[in-house]
Amino acid sequence: MTTTAAALLALLVGAVIGAGIAVVIFLSLRERDRARAQVSRAIPEGIQEVLHGMEDPAAIVDASLTVLASSPAAAPYGIVEAVALTADELRQVSRKARDSEGVATETFRLMRGAAPAESRLVTVRATKVSPRLTLLVLRDITERERVEQMRRDFVANTSHELKTPVGAVSLLSEAIESAADDPEQVRIFASRLTGEAQRLASLTSRIMNLSRLQASDELTEMREVPVDEVLTSAIEASLIQAAAASVEIVRGGDRDLYVSGDAQVLSEALSNLITNAIAYSSEGSKVGVGVKRVDDVVEVAVTDRGIGIPEADQQRIFERFYRTDQARSRRTGGTGLGLSIVKHAVQRHGGEVRLWSRPGRGSTFTIVLPLIEAPIEATPGKRKKKNKMKASKNGDHR
Ligand SMILES: Nc1ncnc2c1ncn2[C@@H]1O[C@H](COP(=O)(O)OP(=O)(O)OP(=O)(O)O)[C@@H](O)[C@H]1O
Ligand SMILES: [Mg+2]
Repeated sequence: MTTTAAALLALLVGAVIGAGIAVVIFLSLRERDRARAQVSRAIPEGIQEVLHGMEDPAAIVDASLTVLASSPAAAPYGIVEAVALTADELRQVSRKARDSEGVATETFRLMRGAAPAESRLVTVRATKVSPRLTLLVLRDITERERVEQMRRDFVANTSHELKTPVGAVSLLSEAIESAADDPEQVRIFASRLTGEAQRLASLTSRIMNLSRLQASDELTEMREVPVDEVLTSAIEASLIQAAAASVEIVRGGDRDLYVSGDAQVLSEALSNLITNAIAYSSEGSKVGVGVKRVDDVVEVAVTDRGIGIPEADQQRIFERFYRTDQARSRRTGGTGLGLSIVKHAVQRHGGEVRLWSRPGRGSTFTIVLPLIEAPIEATPGKRKKKNKMKASKNGDHR
């Protein structure tokens, strides 16, 4: 009996000791794992703060390509703390930096944002900061690339468009040379030569205008511009063309409205619309130029009853060198840059251009610009005072 009790006691003690040992082993294993995790998450002091304060998307990843710290701008690219990098290209460039001399730079497309995610072109620079840590800095170059592409297209289109009149000038001068004995022929070729030279001159001046408007610098001649002044100078610039086509320009609508801008650029834009309205209308028709205040914008509409523009072309006519009917436009001396200049000029003023058109019925182009308050000196009563002051300043008391 005593022997059995002793055996049972021994068994119990053994079981308790065994369980105790198992618990100790389990706890120490867990502690080791936690310590390991802490070691691998550890990053040099201050790095996290630097990343959190960075504007560019950037991150620090460890050897398993898990993000240890990242800047807020990195999140839309799926670069999130405590999560492994998912994009293959990002993983590759990180590995390349880690396995090579320490720096790798790659440019590729990466999805940004969610629903809908957009594809962005990014340059990623990966730098090995320690055997375990790699720093990734992303730069979104989508916009830069678009502008660069636009510049390349512009140069290509422009050279192509310049080739035609330059070729014509050279052919006509050869023709004049070989027809030297025939004064009649010489006269015909010479007048065509003048035409091509004029075309070349207008093309180059329009190209310069457009490239100035497309440049990223600000408009320099900004001031409070009376819309009436813009209309007057734009209509005056088109009077000779209107008379030649027997087209009457009818002006109407609201007066005394003001916009902030460059008067010269705005009146050139409006004049391009009036020129088109006259050029693409039949002889003897009317062209309307109307001003309307709508809430805090002003709408300047140019209406014609001309040939109209097919629906399919309505988006494209604002592109550089685009003409719906190449032959007719060439006959009217068109370069295909007029509307492109209008669009850029208006956009530079924070406005937009709207178009309504039906083939055979006519078109209405509307420039919409943000209105500003009339300047104090323009309000009746105060104007006199200011003029008086000016007069006495100049010593003129008449
Ligand atoms: N009022 C209009 N009615 C019908 N078609 C038009 C009108 N305005 C423009 N278009 C079409 O849009 C095209 C582009 O116009 P845009 O003013 O840019 O060039 P353009 O008149 O050909 O040349 P330019 O650069 O000398 O103005 C024209 O060629 C013409 O086909
Ligand atoms: Mg035009």
